[in-house]
Amino acid sequence: MTRPANAKPPNGDAASHADLIARLAEQRKQTQLGGGPSRIEAQHAKGKLTARERIHRLLDEGTFNEIDSYITHRHSDFGMADQRYAGDSVVVGFGKIGGRRVCVAAQDFTVLGGSFSEAQGQKAAKIMDLALEAGVPMINLNDSVGARIQEGVYSLAGYSELFWRNTQASGVIPQISVMLGPCAGGSVYSPGLTDFVIMTKGTSHMFITGPEVIKTVTSEEIDLETLGGAMTHNTVSGVAHFAAEGEDDALRLTRELLSYLPSNNAEPPPSVSPTDDPRRMDADLNTLVPTDPAMPYDMKEAIARIFDHESFFEVHEYFAANAIVGFARLHGQVVGLVAQQPLNLAGVIDIDASDKIARFIRFADAFNIPLITFVDCPGFMPGSMQEHGGIIRHGAKIVYAYSEATVPKLAVITRKAYGGAYIVMSSKYIRADLVYAWPTAEIAVMGAEGAVNILYGKELKQMKENADAERERLVTEFRDKFAGPYRSAASGHVDDILIPAETRPRLIAALELLRDKQASLPAKKHGTMPL
Ligand code: HXC
Repeated sequence: MTRPANAKPPNGDAASHADLIARLAEQRKQTQLGGGPSRIEAQHAKGKLTARERIHRLLDEGTFNEIDSYITHRHSDFGMADQRYAGDSVVVGFGKIGGRRVCVAAQDFTVLGGSFSEAQGQKAAKIMDLALEAGVPMINLNDSVGARIQEGVYSLAGYSELFWRNTQASGVIPQISVMLGPCAGGSVYSPGLTDFVIMTKGTSHMFITGPEVIKTVTSEEIDLETLGGAMTHNTVSGVAHFAAEGEDDALRLTRELLSYLPSNNAEPPPSVSPTDDPRRMDADLNTLVPTDPAMPYDMKEAIARIFDHESFFEVHEYFAANAIVGFARLHGQVVGLVAQQPLNLAGVIDIDASDKIARFIRFADAFNIPLITFVDCPGFMPGSMQEHGGIIRHGAKIVYAYSEATVPKLAVITRKAYGGAYIVMSSKYIRADLVYAWPTAEIAVMGAEGAVNILYGKELKQMKENADAERERLVTEFRDKFAGPYRSAASGHVDDILIPAETRPRLIAALELLRDKQASLPAKKHGTMPL
């Protein structure tokens, strides 16, 4: 039997239903208060937004669906019975960014300093499980004093569950940590496990042990900002990938970053309708690389001219600036870029550059982002500091990461590709699909001066006269042999020599060819990458 459209619902006691809805509305209002007006005021006074304000600014308008807003903790020791707040110290839910689905967890500093409680752990676990099952990025907005002391091991267990989930989700969905306040003690290992860390200048700090503990244990005196501020982690430690000017900038960076990432590892990265001419040639590229090998030039200039207009989004901009990594678009398709920066330390590879490059390659490969490498590298950084710091083990990560990556891999040698650096920077032998060279390329075991010293050093030392002239002659002879990419092209070690101006259309064509590339690794549980 069908009901007429205008019939009253069954059990139609309208007044009681209205009461139920009104009660829910009141309850909902309560859940939105966090730690209360005075703590919200205190949060604003520190120049910080509340968890919900942040979420609403991050997500597309009107898309946030909060869950678990009624959860409270169940502890009563140390006065906790009087400190129950609906939703406890984190706000979680899902919504959209740029029309694409995401999950989000924002620690609420107004509730007991955003301290990590059993309830926060429960909520964080639930939203991460949902993100993983739905195959959507997980964004954590961090602002917390650390483990909730009053809850002891319950707090630690919650953290452990979070770290475990960060690890399970690694390489399956993108994980982004946005640091908007303190993140202290072992809690730093959740952002430390995620793919990208964005820190806000002035208000965010990350450290395992704070200044007071450091002073007590080691007598070292250091202020909070120098110890674990945004620029420290962007320039020195490399823990952070981005430095934001303020909260809005941090949230903008998050949205922009997501525009280059697929939602999960089974999807391709999101493409956009191309607006830049795929056949565009840039004659200025022909003269970008100086013919004097000692003269630097700006590799970012090459990147800006080759890739889609203003599409380069640099990652780890301030860390190991002798290397460049980031995302860009080529004819609307997302690519991962790796390059040397000749303007900084002549583009040499050191320990930090190794870590930066290897980590980026692994992320790109995990998320189906083709890799394009620009090579101008005189070699690995010499010196006992680097050797003793383990440059062998760190540099090996680059070889490992490129060799393991199965996404399309293209390389362009713009100038120096010497020795180990030639091999590790996406050479054919670690399975780059296509290696191109510019006419300025020099592919050799080492630079001309070093080679002549090793091959003729003794003879030159014994020469009574004309040693300098002879050295000069030998260096020129060596350069003539190895300068220029023709020897390498003649033997198939590079696939073609490009007029620099035509690099854009040639890379677009190569990417198109490799779009459906199939490659796999030998069956294994996992490799034993040198960490
Ligand atoms: C519960 C805490 C707390 C904690 C602070 N609060 N720390 N509640 N557990 N661990 C409370 C405060 O009493 C205060 O409550 C509110 O949170 C805000 O703290 P304030 O100190 O007033 O905030 P602020 O002045 O902004 O200073 C923030 C801070 C400072 C710089 C982070 O709180 C600080 O240095 N805390 C220590 C940080 C730290 O070392 N944490 C590591 C813990 S060990 P009211 O009611 O007044 O608002 C750890 C191990 C994790 O986390 C291991 C995981 C594996």
